[in-house]
Amino acid sequence: MCGIVAYIGKKEAYPIVIKGLERLEYRGYDSAGVALLKESKINLFKEKGKVQDLKNKAANEDVSGTSGMGHTRWATHGEPNMVNAHPHLSGNGKIALIHNGIIENYAALKTTLESRGHVFQSDTDTEVLVHLIEEIQSKNNLDLAEAVRISLGEVTGAYAIVVMSTDEPDILVGARKGSPMVVGIGKDEFFMASDATPIIEYTKNVVYLEDEEIAVINRKGKLSIKTISNEDVAPAIQELKMEIEALEKGGYDHYMLKEIFEQPRSIYDSMRGRIDSTKGDIHMGGLEEYRNTLMNAKRIIVVACGTSWHAALVAEYLFEDLARIPTEVEYASEFRYRNPVIYEDDVVVAISQSGETADTLAAIELAKQKGATVLGVCNVVGSSIPRATHAGAYTHAGPEIGVASTKAFTAQVTVLIQMALWIAYNRGAINQAKLTRYLVELEAIPAKVEKTLKCAEYAKELAKMIASSDNALYLGRGYNFPIALEGALKLKEISYIHAEGYPAAEMKHGPIALIDENMPVIVLATKNSQYEKTVSNIQEVKARKGKIFAIVTKGDTEVKEMADYYIQVPDCPEELSPLISSIPLQLISYEVALLRECNVDQPRNLAKSVTVE
Ligand code: AGP
Ligand code: GLU
Repeated sequence: MCGIVAYIGKKEAYPIVIKGLERLEYRGYDSAGVALLKESKINLFKEKGKVQDLKNKAANEDVSGTSGMGHTRWATHGEPNMVNAHPHLSGNGKIALIHNGIIENYAALKTTLESRGHVFQSDTDTEVLVHLIEEIQSKNNLDLAEAVRISLGEVTGAYAIVVMSTDEPDILVGARKGSPMVVGIGKDEFFMASDATPIIEYTKNVVYLEDEEIAVINRKGKLSIKTISNEDVAPAIQELKMEIEALEKGGYDHYMLKEIFEQPRSIYDSMRGRIDSTKGDIHMGGLEEYRNTLMNAKRIIVVACGTSWHAALVAEYLFEDLARIPTEVEYASEFRYRNPVIYEDDVVVAISQSGETADTLAAIELAKQKGATVLGVCNVVGSSIPRATHAGAYTHAGPEIGVASTKAFTAQVTVLIQMALWIAYNRGAINQAKLTRYLVELEAIPAKVEKTLKCAEYAKELAKMIASSDNALYLGRGYNFPIALEGALKLKEISYIHAEGYPAAEMKHGPIALIDENMPVIVLATKNSQYEKTVSNIQEVKARKGKIFAIVTKGDTEVKEMADYYIQVPDCPEELSPLISSIPLQLISYEVALLRECNVDQPRNLAKSVTVE
């Protein structure tokens, strides 16, 4: 969570830091702050709320200085207010620090520091660290980098930090463990940030810090990296592939809407170069090295959180149905802490848009310790999960900025379908003719998604019927069940309407008690092997006066008759149907959120990248 950005060079730091914070605001947005170093003095600006509130506050102030750092916060310790906003200062006011993550042993450290006379201003865990650095520096007469290094040896938890000091105005010190940090290398200037988006318009040369590394960037053009255990590290410079246009709204009102409409492209990009239906070929380059392991796997365990966990559920259907490998799906957080049975011949697949989700990373570490092979399905190139896994396949959705995941989800499903087909074909679970048929259908999906997006206007109408409800129920069977869960999550996240997703057949075991004439019931009733059963479930809802909003396959007659409202989508094999049926649900949630005047791209309490456990 939270966004960090820092600059040191010859230019004015403030505009660069503010623009960077705006790009990172999707990571956390309850408060923001900037520290600027000028003439041996740190000028601090902090405000509750968005980066815009901070800008307003600083509008008439002196914001000059060629070294600066900023932070958008997602509070873990202490409510979101001005005092708790970062940067935090040391007691002597000489050191400022921004932090992403949690200092888990902050309480013990705070007690010790207080007994040594340190006075704390905020309720955050973070402030402990800046006092600790001050204490260690003054006690041992150390330079800033060394004081940071020794201090970090005393903290447990996760962090990405940047530290500045009035005593050493030509450097900034950054470090990471468990939270991401990228260093940008420009000409006579350096940047540090939580991801590459604030850096991309200034330089394409970056270094992704590894865990327990400390970087010192020096205005005089020097970058040096050390480990916490004091070993020098040669910086591994990489070139960014990202383009700046991908980070803009491109004429749409919201990132979420833009990202929904990008799906024909992002799905296509996630299969480009991997499949060729004319030749009946499928290649999963990233998995080749682990071909034997996958061919012999007795079990696949898929771990993820949130929307990515819904993609994992789709994967369970795919891996069992197509590849005939027993598959289990786990919430990463539960898996990590319940002493699971993991065998060395298990394959663990970790799914994550950001590649930084702390729960998922922890699950990966556990699986590796137990000797399993761990594969990643991630969207952000160079993020922690692709680096922590043995191999994997990227989704090519491009940057997803809206906090509610849309195109990343369908890109994940696209990659998982291909993984399932690749394994299935190579294990002999499906033959060449069947593989080719699936590939033809898969290649047809982007055009079908394009057609499905035409329902956007109609989704607006349906949204009007849902917007004033307090609750909603989403039902689906088979491949449509994970989509029901995802539909409910989308509605909850951005419109704050309480929504539940259920397997349609489970409804009669409890949730049916909720149904009355005020309950919108969104049913995924596309043509699949369980269509007739779903029809019966719709009857059960209707008998209790529930309002039916159905997603049906074009040409359907039966459900159309029964539904109060319906949206038609193109036909496709049911294994691929999540790619189509999720689209109207995304649009409905978006429109409901607009009608309720909610902040679509930055829903309350959420953050895009959840880097705390
Ligand atoms: C999606 O709309 C969510 N905001 C959230 O559930 C998200 O999917 C989850 O935090 C996992 O993130 P990841 O894919 O980056 O690991
Ligand atoms: N734990 C810190 C706080 O609550 C940092 C949170 C963040 O990553 O934004 O202030």
